[in-house]
Amino acid sequence: MQPQTITVLGAGYVGLTTAALLAHANYKVYVVEPNQERLDVIKTGKSFFYEQGLDPVIKLALEAGSLIPTDSYKESVPESDVVFSCVGTPDNPDGSSNLTYVFAAAEETAKHAKKGVIYVQKSTVPVGTGKQIEALFSKLNASIDYVSNPEFLREGTALYDTLFFDRVVVGGDNRKAVDAILDIYMDLEQFRDHIAHIARIPTGSRGDQYIATTLNSAELIKVTANAFLALKISFANSIAKLADKADADVVEVMDAVGADNRIGRAFLDTGRGYGGGCFPKDVSGLISSALEHGVDLEIMQAAQSLNQSMPGYIVDKLQDAVGSLADKKIAVLGLSFKAGTSDVRKSPGVAIANILQQNGATVVTYDPQAHEEAAPDLLPDIHQVNSIEAAIDGADVTVITTEWEDILAYSARDFARHMQGSVLLDAVNKYDAKDASAAGLQYIGVGRSA
Ligand SMILES: NC(=O)c1ccc[n+]([C@@H]2O[C@H](COP(=O)([O-])OP(=O)(O)OC[C@H]3O[C@@H](n4cnc5c(N)ncnc54)[C@H](O)[C@@H]3O)[C@@H](O)[C@H]2O)c1
Repeated sequence: MQPQTITVLGAGYVGLTTAALLAHANYKVYVVEPNQERLDVIKTGKSFFYEQGLDPVIKLALEAGSLIPTDSYKESVPESDVVFSCVGTPDNPDGSSNLTYVFAAAEETAKHAKKGVIYVQKSTVPVGTGKQIEALFSKLNASIDYVSNPEFLREGTALYDTLFFDRVVVGGDNRKAVDAILDIYMDLEQFRDHIAHIARIPTGSRGDQYIATTLNSAELIKVTANAFLALKISFANSIAKLADKADADVVEVMDAVGADNRIGRAFLDTGRGYGGGCFPKDVSGLISSALEHGVDLEIMQAAQSLNQSMPGYIVDKLQDAVGSLADKKIAVLGLSFKAGTSDVRKSPGVAIANILQQNGATVVTYDPQAHEEAAPDLLPDIHQVNSIEAAIDGADVTVITTEWEDILAYSARDFARHMQGSVLLDAVNKYDAKDASAAGLQYIGVGRSA
């Protein structure tokens, strides 16, 4: 029988998106969120983070009664045929995955679930975690089928990625449970154009593959995919460092290298490196879980340290060019870890702003969406302003740290007009050195000395 009622545990980037979309595919969906502040915002028909198209989808589903936000497992789980776990899996101080929320959610579900429920793990977990949760369910005498359904959405295009996907992966030892979850995604696919219309997001199918695997393979697919993308970025940035020394332009290099279909251009963008709530912790979690299996993933350790070096490397480049940063007014444009999201977790823009401030600069920052989120991570003397003009007015140096459209819409000439100094440090490698020079600016890219 088709599942009717679904509970989604955790209303973060993944959980809220998943819940809101499924609520438009003829399911009754509870979304359980223990954080009262977040829950209160969701109940008003909005998301507590910025994600294009999500608010109207939440609002309509709330009005229709198909999406029910709650903080209660007791209210939601007993009625549900399927429970999606989308709780956070942050990193521990040693880099390993913190699975506290994952196990707490599974244990609480086991207390309330009816017999035969399918428990779907969407949180990113180290390979082998599912087997441990199956053991936990069996210890608690809970009759629950467990499957892994790793999430591949990207913040900023979360709705599009879920509706128009490359692949949906579901792994588990019970084929019937795996198929039931694949069926839910096939149902969602029937509604995707309609939902995209509500959200006003682009449409257009991609791979649309449905892939069934074993439990352990599904878990490993997720972390491998993210590790490989992180590896590509770090590889490109290591070549950027060489290009800086060898008088080459890494953007030209990557454009031509990426034109080879076997390689592909995606994730060869160079500059401030990766951040966010996924890549950094997924890479460190993979390194740590591989070590537990006696495997030393040196290649990922290299990718991780290269990435961690990028903010400092970029500030060093600036110091090489302008000397001491003491008393320089520096505008940092972009605090979210990438464009399209207000997420500032492990954001290189925040790291760069803090290093500049520690080096004595007067730092003023601007971000179109992430002011509130960034505030706790920025050093106390860093000043946030509400417009690009307010940030760059009278600045000695402007640093571009996030590729937001409204920031890139600013031409080199616009910067030159407002700034007091003339240094444009392009940490996302999006500006043209010739345009900058024509506008009277000194252009510093990453790996673009030519
Ligand atoms: N954010 C992404 O782009 C993305 C993409 C793919 C996969 N993932 C993975 O998905 C998972 C969730 O990521 P996120 O970014 O949505 O995290 P998040 O931190 O934004 O959201 C997690 C939510 O779970 C809630 N929560 C914690 N304990 C709970 C419990 N016991 N029961 C119910 N809710 C609970 C938290 O309050 C929080 O709101 C992580 O494992 C992450 O690695 C994230």
